[in-house]
Amino acid sequence: MTKMFRQYRIVANISVILVFVFSTLLVKAKEQASKQKADFNPGKIWHDNNGVHINAHGGGVLHHKGQYYWFGEHKIAGSEGNKAHVGVHVYSSSNLTSWKDAGIALKVSDDPSSDIVKGSVIERPKVVYNKQTGKFVMWFHLELKGQGYKAARTGVAVSDKPTGPYLFIKSLRPNAKTYPMNISKAEKQAVGLLLKGQELPETLASNIDNLAVLKVFARDFSGGQMARDMTVYVDKDDKAYQVYSSEENLTLHVSLLSDDYLSHTGIYTRLHPGGRNEAPAVAYHQGKYYLLTSGLSGWRPNPARQYVAEQIMGPWKKLSNPTTGVNAQNNFGPEKTFGGQSTFLLERYDQPGQFIAMFDIWRPKNAIDGRYIWLPVEFKNGAMFIKWQENWQLNAFE
Ligand code: GAL
Repeated sequence: MTKMFRQYRIVANISVILVFVFSTLLVKAKEQASKQKADFNPGKIWHDNNGVHINAHGGGVLHHKGQYYWFGEHKIAGSEGNKAHVGVHVYSSSNLTSWKDAGIALKVSDDPSSDIVKGSVIERPKVVYNKQTGKFVMWFHLELKGQGYKAARTGVAVSDKPTGPYLFIKSLRPNAKTYPMNISKAEKQAVGLLLKGQELPETLASNIDNLAVLKVFARDFSGGQMARDMTVYVDKDDKAYQVYSSEENLTLHVSLLSDDYLSHTGIYTRLHPGGRNEAPAVAYHQGKYYLLTSGLSGWRPNPARQYVAEQIMGPWKKLSNPTTGVNAQNNFGPEKTFGGQSTFLLERYDQPGQFIAMFDIWRPKNAIDGRYIWLPVEFKNGAMFIKWQENWQLNAFE
């Protein structure tokens, strides 16, 4: 009897332990499933269809015929990964949440005389579709191999298919020998004198805001303006604009592209001279253009900025930092943009007016480990608001 009782107790205890273990595992599995079920998990590893962390940094998303295409910088491991060793990676998706690796859209070249030779810097690629020519056009920031960030050029490549292969056409510094639309009479006169190497009369100099910045503009007037961090935006009338950090990153330029999107037209404006904006992203919502940018601190995060305008060429009015909340993974809130830097404002084609703000968390010491922050944008009283969320669902758009 005692023996039977002992055996019974052992069985009972084992059952209790098993029930406990199974229920703990069940709870854990449920937690895991609910975590994985979230459409977006900002800051976390984001797997593609092969279970590999998506490699498309500083990216942009194109929508074409029911598919999204996410283009970005393909990074390799270590700090060497900040240079282009592979090219521009592209992923495709029909729902914005599961992404299929579609390969390398633009490959770096092995030819040492090519601007996009392996070891150059290719950043922030953005692809747009030109309805007139039927071509996909990719613009990007290019730094020539071995020159650090001195070259400050923009490059362009084309393809007949969204996923490529893209054919590199040229790199350049835009709008040489051309004055912007919004230059004042005094500024134009000053640039004229600076180009001749003449001193500016005090009366003229005192009429100019940010003379030091205008001197940088004048310095590059003949050879073309610097173009670093950039985006491309196609407007309602199919005209395309490139927005880029120019003048030693002190001023953004908004520049109209030709009808085939392959060159600059010389029609452009300077946006906030001396405003020190980088990482531009553009959206149009209910009659207004919105611009999301960062300040200048290299790979390190800083507070996001936003601007609003009635016309894409401006004038642009500065609003307050659009971000709120704190990323619990790194304790960064609006003062550091959750640890990220803006790269694109993505509009859902199936839900026009709903935008996702895309940011990069850079990991310059191991570039391939850079992370993505995608968050919904809320438009309220003529401003954008981007609230931190640990995870969120596409159907929970506010
Ligand atoms: C950041 C810029 C990046 C990259 C980096 C290099 O400010 O947004 O795209 O150029 O500087 O330090």
